Amino acid sequence: MRILAISGSLRQGSHNTSLLRAAEELLSPLDTLELWEGMREVPPYDQDDEVEPAPPAVAAFRAAVASADAVLIATPEYNSSIPGALKNALDWASRPIATNVFRNKPVAVIGTSSGMFGAVWAQAELRKVLAAMGARVAEVEVAVGRAQDKLDEEGNLLDDGVRAELRDALATLSSETVPALAAA
Ligand SMILES: Cc1cc2nc3c(=O)[nH]c(=O)nc-3n(C[C@H](O)[C@H](O)[C@H](O)COP(=O)(O)O)c2cc1C
Repeated sequence: MRILAISGSLRQGSHNTSLLRAAEELLSPLDTLELWEGMREVPPYDQDDEVEPAPPAVAAFRAAVASADAVLIATPEYNSSIPGALKNALDWASRPIATNVFRNKPVAVIGTSSGMFGAVWAQAELRKVLAAMGARVAEVEVAVGRAQDKLDEEGNLLDDGVRAELRDALATLSSETVPALAAA
């Protein structure tokens, strides 16, 4: 399984990016995880710019999603919702809606925040957006509260409970890719 990992945070020391790195360490040898690094370059969505060729950063994002077997998104919560840069990238990727690269793509949403609740509202909104785009949203639950206690300064995961949740989430995501690959 080739996983494209997307962090909703641009921050250098992002806990959400660290959570994705922790997930990468749990993969079986046959699986790979590539972290998408292009979110900062995606321009603000403008329907007037929806012409071919797409802006290079948008085209690269769409290609990365299209070539992945599954997508794993870790999102922080900003004001009880999805970070704007992440939503902006997804709005670009959602076009054209009927054939967008997320349609039928297995996607798992996880997240962490410095507060108690682990970005649950942002995750719920993100799942809603992905479902609207036609993604195959996996039923996984990884909401890591108090990120600063669960990840150290270097981004290492300190919590075995979270590690077990990540392992379960990856197994569920993998099971979602099987019908997707069979249908391809
Ligand atoms: C603009 C902004 C809004 C935030 N709003 C929330 C919020 O509504 N709920 C929450 O739990 N944390 C909120 N936070 C805290 C973030 O969840 C926390 O900073 C998190 O660690 C950011 O993720 P990162 O480490 O991956 O960058 C907010 C942070 C920022 C910068």
